[in-house]
Amino acid sequence: MNTFALSESQQQALLQAARAAQLKAYAPYSRYQVGAAVLDDQGRIHAGCNVENAAYPEGVCAEAAALSAMVLAGSTRSVAVLVVGHGGKNNSAWTTPCGGCRQKLREFGALDMPILSANDTDLGPRHTLAQLLPESFGPGHLGPR
Ligand code: THU
Repeated sequence: MNTFALSESQQQALLQAARAAQLKAYAPYSRYQVGAAVLDDQGRIHAGCNVENAAYPEGVCAEAAALSAMVLAGSTRSVAVLVVGHGGKNNSAWTTPCGGCRQKLREFGALDMPILSANDTDLGPRHTLAQLLPESFGPGHLGPR
């Protein structure tokens, strides 16, 4: 696999967009604010934040919101993702997409798509989609539509 080469400026732009989105998060229940930014195949960045709900399961993750923004803007291909949360602080685990969001990302990105984690001060680890979601099921399994 040949992981998408993310330039320094693209990485910085994703970080800035995800951090700005995190500030808008609506997370009164978990108090775990998340921002996500997706780089599409046209070089555009789409951001999203988590939006919780008093009926807890109805909450939306930041990654899902960012993907919705991407599709709304007319793209169905993402090439890189960056997630900003409170992980990576005080020895806590870095914020990576939840299981459901890994599958949502699988719909629009290649298996070698980089997914970066960050918090409000540091850039954390970088994984590929295949590392976060091995042996996954995707659009290709359904054949041509
Ligand atoms: N959350 C996200 O938005 N993205 C992630 O990558 C991990 C978790 C949200 C869901 C919920 O609103 C809060 O973070 C705590 O789980």
